[in-house]
Amino acid sequence: MIRDASADDVVSIQNLLKPYVEKRILLYRSRKEILENIEKTIVYEEDGVLLGTTSLVFFSAKLCEIRALVIDETQQGKGLGKKLVLAAEEKALRLTKERPIHFFALTYTPKFFEQCGYVQTLKENFPEKIYEVCNFCFRKDDCHEIAVEKFSGND
Ligand SMILES: CC(C)(COP(=O)(O)OP(=O)(O)OC[C@H]1O[C@@H](n2cnc3c(N)ncnc32)[C@H](O)[C@@H]1OP(=O)(O)O)[C@@H](O)C(=O)NCCC(=O)NCCS
Repeated sequence: MIRDASADDVVSIQNLLKPYVEKRILLYRSRKEILENIEKTIVYEEDGVLLGTTSLVFFSAKLCEIRALVIDETQQGKGLGKKLVLAAEEKALRLTKERPIHFFALTYTPKFFEQCGYVQTLKENFPEKIYEVCNFCFRKDDCHEIAVEKFSGND
């Protein structure tokens, strides 16, 4: 079941992110940061256990990042990541009436996002992200993430 996250999910979400934070695939997020964005976070839950999560981060009413996406290692390759991305996009489309929404992600797995309808693009196309987030990231001078984007909601 994919559902909106709640404050009760904060610790489980942090635990889902942890292995990939340790591998430096995802950035560390404190419980406070996760809680602050909980209303824009969704989770995949099975038998009361959280097995996936992702968050929306709006830089404007029309520009939205898909961030902190993870599927538990035991559940990867079953189509859940794609379902979660599409559910996140639907949530974003409910949160704003602006159309189309310009979705983007910075990722080491662009091929996965391509399977979700995204195309590769340049990070420089997202100055909002660079000025507000990347410039303060400890990896800013050694970042190999690839930008992907998709426009949704104009059909
Ligand atoms: C990336 C991740 C979210 C993908 O989730 P998943 O549930 O394993 O992916 P899915 O099963 O939904 O895959 C959907 C499609 O993408 C493809 N795909 C998935 N991961 C891929 C990868 N690493 N490279 C290439 N293609 C990939 C699948 O083959 C599938 O293709 P299909 O639709 O033709 O069958 C998951 O592997 C993960 O959590 N990785 C660790 C954290 C991470 O890298 N997060 C992304 C940071 S932005």
